[in-house]
Amino acid sequence: MKQNTLIKGNVHYVGVNDRDKHLFEGLWPLPNGVSYNSYLIDDEMVTLIDTVDVCYFEIFHQKIRSVIGDKPINYLVINHMEPDHSGSIKLIKEYYPDIIIVGNKQTFNMIEGFYGVTGEQYLVKDGDFLATGKHKLHFYMTPMVHWPETMMTYDSTDKVIFSGDAFGTFGALDGPFVDVKMNVSKYWDEMIRYYSNIVGKYGSPVQKALEKLKDVKIEVIASTHGPVWTDPKNIERVVSMYNDLSLYNSKEGVVIIYGTMYGNTQAMAEAIASELAEQGIKDIIIHNSNKSDPSYIIADIFKYKGLIVGSPTYNGQLYPRIDAILSDILLRDMKNRYLAYFGSFSWASVSVKRLADFATKSKFELVADPAEMKHAMKVADFDQCVHIAKCMADRLKKDRN
Ligand code: FEO
Repeated sequence: MKQNTLIKGNVHYVGVNDRDKHLFEGLWPLPNGVSYNSYLIDDEMVTLIDTVDVCYFEIFHQKIRSVIGDKPINYLVINHMEPDHSGSIKLIKEYYPDIIIVGNKQTFNMIEGFYGVTGEQYLVKDGDFLATGKHKLHFYMTPMVHWPETMMTYDSTDKVIFSGDAFGTFGALDGPFVDVKMNVSKYWDEMIRYYSNIVGKYGSPVQKALEKLKDVKIEVIASTHGPVWTDPKNIERVVSMYNDLSLYNSKEGVVIIYGTMYGNTQAMAEAIASELAEQGIKDIIIHNSNKSDPSYIIADIFKYKGLIVGSPTYNGQLYPRIDAILSDILLRDMKNRYLAYFGSFSWASVSVKRLADFATKSKFELVADPAEMKHAMKVADFDQCVHIAKCMADRLKKDRN
């Protein structure tokens, strides 16, 4: 069976699609699946770049063999050790016992720890290179994009950056693997959801990596997830998206997140949203935390500048799902957001106090005093909701000039 695998020159795509897994890392829904991308350079010295989740080894190996037949693989470059990419190292080593694994000091430590694999190693540091014949591979250490051992490999012959998780996206590849042969529109939102949930905590390391790559001439981005980017417009868009996301840049709009048991706190959220619209804010995203998956909430918070959080008091604390999402936000060390919050209670007022703690910890700019409601909505409660909506809209509109 001969599938098309060629990207450019003698660089091939040998990745696989996962349409089975429901949750990536056991946490993040995969409605459209995910791809685990691996690449093969069929040069004098055959080089494989990263592997795939071990569940897909058989398909992976067939693809490799469709390119090189019975030839051996000489080098296996490991850019990233998370098991969605490193999972097949042990089996590759069994099929190709003379393979030389290329990685940095931390890579080898993890290979032995995860898989008990030892053997001949080619240790690289930042700025090192390896000639494989026609191709020359340059190594850039990019720690914490996404793990400490993460590095990128640049093929200066075909100007391909093998970027690991950077520039990746959720979404399996439905037929073609190269961007110019597909409609890529379905990947943009998933790229934000992928970045914000998986890499979102590491804005500063991503910035350092982008700085390191700024003078590198890139004609192909070969990430470990999603399409291979070759169209210059797409390359520019992908890099610019990663730049904006890692700087926590955002656009005008408000995400309202709330928890509710019987609809009373929800009524506050609706009142706030309605007034935001009256004030001319067009992008208003409401998430009922009981229903929205946290990964979509986090992605929207990465997109928009305004955040309004509401919670009833529950067992003398925040509503649990709101508590969890606030912890997700803090874990990502998000910056530069405008914040307002509201709460409700039946006999003991606690939720607004906990939301005030979040306001302090997040260092977001608080735009209004909180709205707080006892039992159900009355005129005074409604007016408080209108007030925080107006304050948020005013703050956002100040940035228009
Ligand atoms: Fe796709 Fe951090 O692994």
